[in-house]
Amino acid sequence: MSDAQGIVLRVSGLTVRYPGAGAHRQRRAAVEDVSFDIGAGEVCGLIGESGSGKSSLARGILQLGPARSGAVWLNGMPLHTLSGAALRRGRVPMQMVFQNPLDSLNPRLTISASLREPLMIRDTRLEAADRDRRIAGALELVGLAAACADRFPHEFSGGQLQRIAIARNVLVRPDILICDEAVSALDASIQAQILNLLADLRERFGMAILFISHDLAAVRHMCDRVLVLYQGRLIEDAPAEIFFAGPGHPYSRALLESAGGCSPVSLPGANPAPSPGAERGCAFAGQCPEATPTCLAQRPLLENGGRGHAVACWNRQRP
Ligand SMILES: Nc1ncnc2c1ncn2[C@@H]1O[C@H](COP(=O)(O)OP(=O)(O)OP(=O)(O)O)[C@@H](O)[C@H]1O
Ligand code: SF4
Ligand SMILES: [Mg+2]
Repeated sequence: MSDAQGIVLRVSGLTVRYPGAGAHRQRRAAVEDVSFDIGAGEVCGLIGESGSGKSSLARGILQLGPARSGAVWLNGMPLHTLSGAALRRGRVPMQMVFQNPLDSLNPRLTISASLREPLMIRDTRLEAADRDRRIAGALELVGLAAACADRFPHEFSGGQLQRIAIARNVLVRPDILICDEAVSALDASIQAQILNLLADLRERFGMAILFISHDLAAVRHMCDRVLVLYQGRLIEDAPAEIFFAGPGHPYSRALLESAGGCSPVSLPGANPAPSPGAERGCAFAGQCPEATPTCLAQRPLLENGGRGHAVACWNRQRP
């Protein structure tokens, strides 16, 4: 399901700030004024160096964690206006796959008991036999035997646990999955299997995915669109084909160059202190080879330059 314009997730002006006082108070928000849409069935990659705010953004979208402002609509429903049981029910069409599958599986419960929970939120009147049949079906869908349902998490490998976590999510047939570094703790061959599984599920059920990763090769393989975060701000939003052929923001170019286009993102001086003037101007100005006085004085906004390619950079916007 999506809204009338085919948009599953709409994020508007989302800002996330962690609480703190005195010396521990964050100078800047972890996520600042981020806006984007994800269409039905679209796979959108979210990249940026460590500490750029990717996980904070994911949690903010789910309405979890610290102080937030801004709006999040899921299939047209304003999640930011809900709380308690209404919020839990309202966000069922959006599920999250974590880096550590044990974050969504209780080690003391059998797999069956863990998988039952989201089903019961979605449909409280589901009969036991029907529920067990759906759990067995979900396990088979991710390549595991139905008999796994009676076992405990410690009896599985990391790759199998991630499959089980994905089965738990797809049981409720979400319209969008948020995958936060969902494969980065796994061996390369298992990573490929899980990525193929996600691609297959997207194909079968048409669900959208917000794919958060340091691995640019995986993003290139999986995604239709790429979003780039820098110091909590969205600085580029581009169709994947255009992005990998030539990103528009100098920071994105540095990311691609430093990664050789295929290895994990790691820039020299990753997550640096804000540049002088960053409060007013472009946060990347201190590191940017193309910076001009305008860049220090005024923050560039994310502007669409056509073909769905938006960039926050004064250079891009000059005629
Ligand atoms: N629980 C927290 N309390 C205070 N500050 C936090 C907390 N979690 C994250 N932060 C801060 O928020 C900023 C963004 O962190 P976040 O974890 O969202 O980044 P990330 O892009 O997901 O990084 P990584 O790639 O390492 O997972 C960082 O400056 C981080 O120190
Ligand atoms: S706005 Fe200026 S400093 Fe910022 S990325 Fe563009 S050219 Fe560089
Ligand atoms: Mg993170």
